[in-house]
Amino acid sequence: MDTQIIQVKEQHTQEGLLRRAGEIVRVGGLVAFPTETVYGLGGDALNPDSARKIYAAKGRPSDNPLIVHICRMEDLPCLVREIPEAAEKLAEAFWPGPLTMIFHKSPAVPPETTGGLDTVAVRMPSHKTALAFIREAGGYVAAPSANRSGKPSPTSAKYVAEDMDGRIEMIIDGGDVEIGLESTIVDLTEEYPVILRPGYITKEMLEEVVGFVREDGTMMSDESGQAPKAPGMKYRHYAPKGTLVIVDGSEEKVTAYINEQLERLKGEGHKTGVIGTDKTIARYRGDICKSAGNREDERTIARELYRILREFDDEEVSAIFSESFDTAGIGQAIMNRLLKAAGHQIVYL
Ligand code: TXA
Ligand code: MG
Repeated sequence: MDTQIIQVKEQHTQEGLLRRAGEIVRVGGLVAFPTETVYGLGGDALNPDSARKIYAAKGRPSDNPLIVHICRMEDLPCLVREIPEAAEKLAEAFWPGPLTMIFHKSPAVPPETTGGLDTVAVRMPSHKTALAFIREAGGYVAAPSANRSGKPSPTSAKYVAEDMDGRIEMIIDGGDVEIGLESTIVDLTEEYPVILRPGYITKEMLEEVVGFVREDGTMMSDESGQAPKAPGMKYRHYAPKGTLVIVDGSEEKVTAYINEQLERLKGEGHKTGVIGTDKTIARYRGDICKSAGNREDERTIARELYRILREFDDEEVSAIFSESFDTAGIGQAIMNRLLKAAGHQIVYL
């Protein structure tokens, strides 16, 4: 299959181009598109064949449910059995935006889309091109992140093309994404809202709107002994080809420890890499050292993390060390993804 790539600037969504993209989805094809979080791989959410094609293109197990993307609040009732009051408040506060909510599904949503679950994940993205594309596609676009299973989610069309060229009909290139990590997922089918995956919308932001919010026990640890409630969170998603170890502690101790390990591993013939920050990166003696951004504004780090992990794969780095980023705000989401990529290997100094 030939994959067509079209460029669409967010400010002036070229309607003709997006109409063609929407038409592809309406007749059962797949189109990758930009959102504010990461690129999505879109198909018709109400068509079971489209879900099957998405799993095939991603190389993803079909028990891993997809997120249904909508562009208008009026389209939500068709997908769900009921809209709890908390969901209404959260939609009012954070939609369109980087928040996914889980509802009991209506019969309109085929089980193929939800991986056989009787719940459905729904999100209204804020990216202008995404919204226009979803409208042209008929209003209900099932989309996982547009990476091959096991790779980091794509933050630019270049990475979508690397993974999906020849597997899907079209890629809408809208440039680099703004956030760089996937949406926050909140389950609204329980007594209290439960965060299943941390993201740009934090627990504090949610609690300001709906009061008490729980966190899934498996979110930050791999030792809870429970299965995660978001089936996708059980896979070792963001694993780089090389080993990745996170090092946590004071700046001095972290640099000293990492440099010591780098010397040792180079001696053993490894190609080494470091994920640091603007302030610290010049101190490291790895073969390739990359700054993820600036600690004063961790959004910069969220935006760069997946690109850096992909680059280390391309550069065939075999041993990677990363600084740790656990703080308020988006820091929790950064750490959640980094811990998964590291298979939870973390050294506390
Ligand atoms: O930001 C995002 O959410 C991006 C963009 C494209 O919107 N999408 C994304 O999709 O990250 P994906 O498929 O890579 O991740 C969806 C996660 C998976 O971990 C999946 O298991 C979980 O959502 N999920 C989907 N439906 C669910 C459901 N009904 N119950 C529990 N978890 C669900
Ligand atoms: Mg994904």
